[in-house]
Amino acid sequence: MNKVFFLFLLIPILGFSNYWGKTGHRVTGHIAQNHLSGKAKRALNKLLDGHSLAFVSTYADEIKADRNNSRFSPWHYVNYPMDMRYEDSEKSEFGDVVMAIEECIGIIKNETSTKKDRVFYLKMLIHLVGDLHQPMHASRAEDKGGNDIQLQWFGEGTNLHRVWDKNMIVSYGMTYTELATELDRLPKWKRKKIQEGTIYDWVHESHLIAAELYGSVEPGEKIGYQYSYKYNNILFDQLQKGGLRLAKVLNDLFR
Ligand code: ADE
Ligand code: ZN
Ligand code: ZN
Repeated sequence: MNKVFFLFLLIPILGFSNYWGKTGHRVTGHIAQNHLSGKAKRALNKLLDGHSLAFVSTYADEIKADRNNSRFSPWHYVNYPMDMRYEDSEKSEFGDVVMAIEECIGIIKNETSTKKDRVFYLKMLIHLVGDLHQPMHASRAEDKGGNDIQLQWFGEGTNLHRVWDKNMIVSYGMTYTELATELDRLPKWKRKKIQEGTIYDWVHESHLIAAELYGSVEPGEKIGYQYSYKYNNILFDQLQKGGLRLAKVLNDLFR
C-alpha cells in the first residue's frame, strides 16, 4: 500500500480512539448537569472554575498516566463473587469504587479539607459515579471485570470490558451531547424513582447486569450489530441512571 495513504488511514484510528473512550463519562456528566439544584450549581461553579461536569468527568482517567497516582487505580471498580451482595463480600485492602465514592464524599463534606483536596476528590467523585454504572466495573476478579475475555468487535480485537467501556458507545456514533439529550427525556416521577436507593443498591444493579453479560458471549466470539441491538437499551439505561444519580449525590452534598 502507498505509504502516505497508509498514514492517512492510521492517524484517525490511533488519534481518535482515546477521545471516544471518554464519551460515556461525558454523557453521565451532561445529564447530571441538567438536574442540579441551584445550591449545587453555585457550589460546583466555584469549585470547578465554571467548568461543566462533562468536562471534568474524565479527569480521573487522565491522571492514571502519572505513576504517582497508582493508588487510585483500584478506585474505578469493584470485584466480588457474582452470587453475592457487595455488603457481604470481602473488601479489598486497596479500596474499591464504593469505598472510594464514600471517601470522596467525606473529604468534600469535611470543612477542614483544603480547597485543592475538595476539588480533586470532587472530580474523582464525578467520574466514579459513572464507573459504578458500567456493569463490568462491578463484576468479578477472575477475568478482571471482563478484560481477560477476548472478543472481536466488527472484526477488531477487543474484550468484554472494553465492549462496554467503549465499543458499543463509539459504534452508536453520537456525540456526548447528542446522546445525553436523547437519553434525558424521562418524566419527573421516573427520574425520582431512579434516584432512590443507596450506593449499595446501585452497585448491586450493575453487578446483576454484569452477571447477565458474562452469559452474553463466548470467549473469542465475533460480535457486532446483533449485540448492539440486544444490549443498547441496557447501555443507555445505565448512562441515564449514572447521570441522574450523580445529580442526586451532588445535590445531597451541597444542600
Ligand atoms: N481490573 C481488575 N478488575 C477490573 C474491573 N472490574 N474493572 C476495571 N479494571 C479492572
Ligand atoms: Zn474510571
Ligand atoms: Zn473500564
